[in-house]
Amino acid sequence: MTSSPPEPLLRAEGVTVRFGGLVALSEVDLEVPPRTVVGLIGPNGAGKTTLFNVLSGVVRPQEGRLTYGGRPLRDHRPHHLARLRIARTFQGLNLFGGMTVLDNVAVGADRLAAGGALGMLTGLGRHARDERDLYARARAALAEFDIADTAAALPGTLPYGVQKRVALARALVADPELLLLDEPAGGLSAGDVDALGARIRGLRDRMAVVLVEHHVDLVMSVCDRVVVLNFGRVVRAGTPDEVRADPAVTEAYLGTPAEAGSDA
Ligand SMILES: Nc1ncnc2c1ncn2[C@@H]1O[C@H](COP(=O)(O)OP(=O)(O)O)[C@@H](O)[C@H]1O
Ligand SMILES: [Mg+2]
Repeated sequence: MTSSPPEPLLRAEGVTVRFGGLVALSEVDLEVPPRTVVGLIGPNGAGKTTLFNVLSGVVRPQEGRLTYGGRPLRDHRPHHLARLRIARTFQGLNLFGGMTVLDNVAVGADRLAAGGALGMLTGLGRHARDERDLYARARAALAEFDIADTAAALPGTLPYGVQKRVALARALVADPELLLLDEPAGGLSAGDVDALGARIRGLRDRMAVVLVEHHVDLVMSVCDRVVVLNFGRVVRAGTPDEVRADPAVTEAYLGTPAEAGSDA
């Protein structure tokens, strides 16, 4: 840890989101420094998904502002993320069932090609060299996740844990600066969760990560910083140790010491 924190890559200030009369987020501040893993935890209904959706341009906040790389991020949409070098995964899998694993992963690299990977895959507006490069990157991403042998398979024929790795490989193939992960541990076995934790820790040298997860042990073990939401407000932000030691957090969320249970 350095003594003076670097300028954040992503900053959210005073973010408020209302759904009708319901306040889902209330004046939430969040900072994501470069090459830092930031965990977002909190009980059901705390506003985690809403904040994730604000960051990924799916939900527009009524109040507050975002900056990315020091510049205002206004009215961004999910389809702008690739250009901003932000990648995301989805709570489920969101893989294309009719495409091979390799094609699914190649789609994630669409910022690299002017025509877009989908255009390339369907034979529109692409150059052979771009396409070779794209597939080389997709194969490298699969190899990094130890699933090179699944390249030709259809996702639906693979175990769930492997499909989750395909989804993560797809997010990484475009070489993002910021990776947004929505409950990546959902549905994984204990062994797969441990492996996922190691992979996320390994990403820290290359990118910043926002990890929305109710698997508390995973968050505490991989994150540099943890932000705890409750009723749409930030209850506490700090290192895992600081957050764990805060009685307000224990009361609001953990209930029992974090080691005692991993699922909220
Ligand atoms: N599209 C929506 N319309 C209305 N209410 C919503 C919508 N999305 C979320 N909410 C409400 O906002 C609050 C926060 O939800 P959410 O962000 O999904 O919490 P979490 O992900 O922490 O469980 C909840 O009370 C939820 O019911
Ligand atoms: Mg949620």
